[in-house]
Amino acid sequence: MPAPETLSTGLIQVFRKSEDAIRAELGAGLLAPHATISPKYLYDALGSRLFAAICELPEYYPTRTEAAIVETHMAEIAAAAGQGATLIDLGAGNCAKAARLFPTLQPRHYVPVDISVDFLRDAVALLHQRFPHMPITGVGLDFSHALDLPDVIDKTGRLFFYPGSSIGNFTPTEAENFLRGLHAACHGDGGLLIGVDLVKDASLLDAAYDDALGVTAAFNRNLLLHLNALLGADFDVRDWRHRGFFNAGQSRIEMHLEAMRDVRVGWRGGERRFAAGERIHTENSYKYTHAGFVQLLERAGFGEIKIWSDPQTWFMLCHARALPASQTAFR
Ligand code: AVJ
Repeated sequence: MPAPETLSTGLIQVFRKSEDAIRAELGAGLLAPHATISPKYLYDALGSRLFAAICELPEYYPTRTEAAIVETHMAEIAAAAGQGATLIDLGAGNCAKAARLFPTLQPRHYVPVDISVDFLRDAVALLHQRFPHMPITGVGLDFSHALDLPDVIDKTGRLFFYPGSSIGNFTPTEAENFLRGLHAACHGDGGLLIGVDLVKDASLLDAAYDDALGVTAAFNRNLLLHLNALLGADFDVRDWRHRGFFNAGQSRIEMHLEAMRDVRVGWRGGERRFAAGERIHTENSYKYTHAGFVQLLERAGFGEIKIWSDPQTWFMLCHARALPASQTAFR
């Protein structure tokens, strides 16, 4: 890596789980009494394309609702978040959402973070052509565990950007810990711009996660193809159906893959029988209330919380300032 001073554009891979560790994690999940696989494995090359297609579906409101909120309230958002920040984009993917903020927020340094730099390489190259004067550092990092950003990223003046309601994949307790980690990574300065999906009528939520075209079903079932590739497993996609529904008691969407008949699945290092109707839990997507999420932010050390929403209050965007530790010590 060149020295930070000369780094106008670069890519850094911080840490990657070894393939053996990934296989061990996946195998343990498949063998658990209630089989479970982390939703991060939904995003292989095809899964990422299917997710992009989900974002175009009439039933899947979060992406377009969030975009409309940003468009409508851009000036106020910029006033809250401030200009010239180090913009750290968590789960940046194609970087499109952040790029729409550039003209108004004018970040001093753009830092897209995603689980692998391979996902960032092309997007960063394209962005560099569009914004040749913007320093960009792509960081490959699984930030769900720890936010160890490389030293070339300034410690102050940070604006974390976490759009799309990806925070919903954490349980509320995990989300609070994650937000605490973000607060610590702000070093008593800076803030967070975050998108959060809100509780609403169950029929709207059910439709958003079990669409008429079956794109979400394909996205979920594609996980089995990814497992076949990662584990050398022999899942037959035709044996499994998609389930996606709102669990009101837990205030979350659940996605499962359900065996349609008795099946035996083998993989390198293990095997399991699934009875007809048995499920693999593949995702939770928690839905918050205004008040519930504000409380999480405050418990994690954030304050001066500003909220923008759509007219139907289906989704919200929050800006929260990272309060210095002196103001949060008694929480
Ligand atoms: C990317 C986690 C925000 O929970 O809405 C979309 C993923 N799963 N449809 C969400 C997803 C099924 C999405 N997040």
